[in-house]
Amino acid sequence: MVRVLSCLQPTGEIQLGNYLGAIRRWVQDQTPQSFHGVVDLHALTIPRDPAVLRAKTLETAQLLLAAGLDPNYTTIFVQSHVPEHPQMAWLLECTASLGELERMTQFKDKSAKTEGSFTSAGLLTYPTLMAADILLYDAELVPVGDDQRQHLELTRDVAQRFNSRYGTTFVIPRAGIAKVGARIMDLQEPTNKMSKSADSPQGTVKVLDEPKDIERKIKRAVTDTDGEVRFDPVTKPGVSNLLSILAATTGVADPASLAHNYQQYGPLKADTAAAVIEFLAPLQKRYHELSDDPGHVTQVLAAGAAKARTVASVVLARAKLNVGLLPG
Ligand code: TRP
Repeated sequence: MVRVLSCLQPTGEIQLGNYLGAIRRWVQDQTPQSFHGVVDLHALTIPRDPAVLRAKTLETAQLLLAAGLDPNYTTIFVQSHVPEHPQMAWLLECTASLGELERMTQFKDKSAKTEGSFTSAGLLTYPTLMAADILLYDAELVPVGDDQRQHLELTRDVAQRFNSRYGTTFVIPRAGIAKVGARIMDLQEPTNKMSKSADSPQGTVKVLDEPKDIERKIKRAVTDTDGEVRFDPVTKPGVSNLLSILAATTGVADPASLAHNYQQYGPLKADTAAAVIEFLAPLQKRYHELSDDPGHVTQVLAAGAAKARTVASVVLARAKLNVGLLPG
């Protein structure tokens, strides 16, 4: 059984694209060798409202549980509950080079955006914390989106460098980049990926949206004026996106095969909205049950952190010993 790890930041609200592209796959592929973290320490690279961060961390964990990750089976934890993460991150910060971190495109993009204001040192060292998340669990496979490919490469480079300096310590992970199956685009700007960080509330279906809001957003989705229902993401991005969403939420593998059922955009939108609402209903129901019982979720997360630590503490001890720290 392959050891799998992937994590999610508790920022923004989970939307349909995250769910179909990432979380659903984690749920389908879960085994007792799966580890999934809500990485709250990563969220601190920019200043956040403490109350909001706390609430989002709980909400994200509840969503993972509602989506079907089973804590009796896989390990679900909050990053800051496992103190091995920042400890390991320091060892890796001292293994990565400044130039390597400065070359990360995400760092360049984000620090350019904050230019003139405040850029935290954490924004630069963030990939070594991510590497710690992965290496602490001897993860072999890390399912991530394409935007994280470079961070995975850095993780591999740093792990290899550590191994060659100090002797074999880490398992070298590989990235599991999803095949471009269900690529869900923004409903208002269908050439952009639907994103929890994009400022496009009308183009983004959040998994906890009320049915009436889902319906409104899908009915107002941008299409085009030629009036023909055809799957052609290049010339007809809006219509193709609706077909992709309909296919993904009804379990149809090929969105193009649905096009001939429709002569007009109206019925396509109505069916897509109904399909999304029905698809999300069980998740929403479980989510609300969990939010009615926060004590239960707290217990589940405590047990998850304890389980995570049994693995992470062994790997951290191995790394500390190999690097030359005196055992305490
Ligand atoms: N950096 C990832 C993101 O922004 C989140 C993340 C943190 C992660 N640690 C990880 C993903 C470890 C996979 C494995 O989406």
